[in-house]
Amino acid sequence: MALQEQSATLRREMPVMKRDGAMPKISVPEISSPIIQIKDLNFYYGSKHALKSITVDISEKKATAFIGPSGCGKTTLLRCLNRMNDLIANVRVTGSITLEGKDIYGPSTDVIQLRRRVGMIFQKWNPFPKSIYENVVYGLRIVGINDRQQLDEVVESTLKRAALWEEVKDTLHKSAAELSGGQQQRLCIARALAVEPDVLLMDEPCSALDPISTAKIEELIHELKDAFTIVIVTHNMQQAARVSDHTAFFYLGEVIEYGETGKLFTNPDKRQTEDYITGRFG
Ligand SMILES: Nc1ncnc2c1ncn2[C@@H]1O[C@H](COP(=O)(O)OP(=O)(O)OP(=O)(O)O)[C@@H](O)[C@H]1O
Ligand SMILES: [Mg+2]
Repeated sequence: MALQEQSATLRREMPVMKRDGAMPKISVPEISSPIIQIKDLNFYYGSKHALKSITVDISEKKATAFIGPSGCGKTTLLRCLNRMNDLIANVRVTGSITLEGKDIYGPSTDVIQLRRRVGMIFQKWNPFPKSIYENVVYGLRIVGINDRQQLDEVVESTLKRAALWEEVKDTLHKSAAELSGGQQQRLCIARALAVEPDVLLMDEPCSALDPISTAKIEELIHELKDAFTIVIVTHNMQQAARVSDHTAFFYLGEVIEYGETGKLFTNPDKRQTEDYITGRFG
């Protein structure tokens, strides 16, 4: 659906209240137990200043949405959270990001371990060319876990958690490539969950899926946030409104507004947020 149409629908569902003309203030949600704290983060691709002084706390066991127009830095920030940007040449980061109080850019951080704790789901699902079973246990095998019974148990519990078990329990040894797109995306979620992460980063996880598969993933996000912290980038504002507790609105590399999702979508503090969610730009 085009952004303008989404915004029009959203406007009908969640009317934006008139602001009272008071001085805008930054809305910061009550984050009682932040698992991730991003402080004064700047990120550069060569000379391109892609993230500018970002300060955001992410609540544990909640879903936080990043929204904003294309190119505003959502993916860049997401990829800072598990240091995926380290794989890109000529980048520079200043400021800090802590995970449970520990600086993830500190010298003692084990990046492999960090990426196990902070898993990632991409827009385009990317199962390995292996069986469903081997996709789920991949992260366990690479740390030397090969006990059949243990792996069987992880496969069943994780696929149940990813809401895929009933659909695949009789075809576990078939190729993952035979699954539908929505099933492959849920398999990628299962693969990420199998190593028991604390945080799941999702970069537009539904943007290539049909509405039914999208609804299944959204339902899954609701269930997963009882046990995991979720950070989701989405261009679909109804989706952000449906699945997230907190929302950060990005524009040109800055976080313009960060707040409780309901508040940000119905009564934003900043004019730019209001213009974006009502479809005046983006
Ligand atoms: N590998 C890269 N090298 C150089 N510049 C990059 C690279 N990746 C992203 N950028 C630039 O950084 C800025 C932020 O990009 P980013 O991908 O984070 O935006 P985004 O908000 O995720 O956009 P979209 O909604 O289109 O996915 C953009 O100007 C982009 O061109
Ligand atoms: Mg992106």
